[in-house]
Amino acid sequence: MTDNAEKYVAAIDQGTTSSRCIVFNQSGAIVAVDQREHRQIFPKPGWVEHDATEIWSKVQAVVAGAIAKAGLRADQLSALGITNQRETTVLWDRATGKPVHNAIVWQDTRTAALCNQLGGSDGQDRFREQTGLPLASYFSGPKAAWLLDNVPGLRDRAERGEIAFGTIDSWLIWNLTGGTDGGQHVTDVTNAGRTMLMNLETLQRDPSILSAMNVPEAVLPEIKSSSEVYGTAVGQLAGVPVASALGDQQAAVFGQACYDVGTAKNTYGTGSFLLLNTGNRPVPSKSGLLTTMGYKIGSEAPVYCLEGAIAITGALVQWFRDQLGIISTADDIEPLAASVEDNGGAYIVPAFSGLFAPYWRSDARGVVTGLTRYVTKAHLARAVLEATSWQTREVVDAMYQDSGVQITTLKVDGGMTKNNLLMQHQADVLDVPVIRPKISETTCLGAAYAAGLATGVWNDLDELKAHWAKDVEWTPSMTAQERDREYHNWRKAVEKSFGWLE
Ligand code: G3P
Repeated sequence: MTDNAEKYVAAIDQGTTSSRCIVFNQSGAIVAVDQREHRQIFPKPGWVEHDATEIWSKVQAVVAGAIAKAGLRADQLSALGITNQRETTVLWDRATGKPVHNAIVWQDTRTAALCNQLGGSDGQDRFREQTGLPLASYFSGPKAAWLLDNVPGLRDRAERGEIAFGTIDSWLIWNLTGGTDGGQHVTDVTNAGRTMLMNLETLQRDPSILSAMNVPEAVLPEIKSSSEVYGTAVGQLAGVPVASALGDQQAAVFGQACYDVGTAKNTYGTGSFLLLNTGNRPVPSKSGLLTTMGYKIGSEAPVYCLEGAIAITGALVQWFRDQLGIISTADDIEPLAASVEDNGGAYIVPAFSGLFAPYWRSDARGVVTGLTRYVTKAHLARAVLEATSWQTREVVDAMYQDSGVQITTLKVDGGMTKNNLLMQHQADVLDVPVIRPKISETTCLGAAYAAGLATGVWNDLDELKAHWAKDVEWTPSMTAQERDREYHNWRKAVEKSFGWLE
């Protein structure tokens, strides 16, 4: 390749329901995409698992697919970036490379009782000062502790150094860089920050938390920045530098060019995750948000975010389709919802994994309220969509309370942003314009950007910021009176979701 040749960066986005690989060119435009779904395993109510071996094979397939569609050879890629569903926990045998159990997915609630017990008299806030997180079944540390206690003989093997722990970034990087034959066992700060084992200030593990959760240091990966060369790929990507890792929500912050303090984005996927850049200092939350890493570029100072994590948004549409069978494809929801004027008085609170931000109530379960004989499936379809925008409104209110930053526009991305009815309702209930960029694949784009920065494809953040361009803007049109009345009804419905599990 000469210096003038086009440069390409590939990114793998290993998400909750599927894996995809996108190849980008130097202008940040998409050259090729490949995507495959993997199985969702529900062994008991509230439990959600993935087969990490299946995930690895799907990732290999989408990498091959994207490179073939792009008409490229691996040696034409300047770098590979990784982004991933966060918190999902894998433990594997270092000698065989085989997972010792299915991965426990971020939505899984099996550690709720363990978290209560760990909280003791301090409750959910026991580790909040060090980690920025409330004690909740969402995070990886308690999931690792559960596996160590429940897979026979595992704790002894872990203490002998035979077992490796990883969030999905670590699992992929280890496999990509050689696996049992010299694979790198690393993670980045954005993923390590979601284990509840990392101190947000030092960016190292907190020994007091490791000992409280009884997680041996010997299983843990080394913590690195989000943008640096962790190792060189082997196999089909032989020779390509593996040069970034970011949790998917932080990757979207990076891909949406939220580099300035006060900029925010909301990604609508299985759940929705609204992150606000708060600069080089962590801002503690008193309103039910998470204080979390934004990104860390090489040896530069880390950037922090406040995050409103909502567990179920797109997954409610899937439930409406798969469990209730009211629609046959996710796209059918928009015309059905648009066939009526309003929700007919119905509200759905999708507390399927308890409620995350701003409530953190593991005792919450889903409710449908306001039913009368007037309500049709079309009204329920509206209530499904509105559940996403009201949950987002609640986290935007919490952001304002915590940071004093009043969001003036909201950058959005993710699958649900193609739903015009939802995006209009989102603008209406927030009373601010909602904007989607031209490249809405911001998660992969962010991972590609971070990998390209580490390998000289791009020089700095200003260059990346110049790529960002607006595609669609939805402007608010709801009256204040209607907004207030609907919000009041939503809040009443949320209260009905509490207290279903002691
Ligand atoms: O924290 C969970 C989040 O990272 C999952 O994102 O888009 O895979 O549902 P997604």
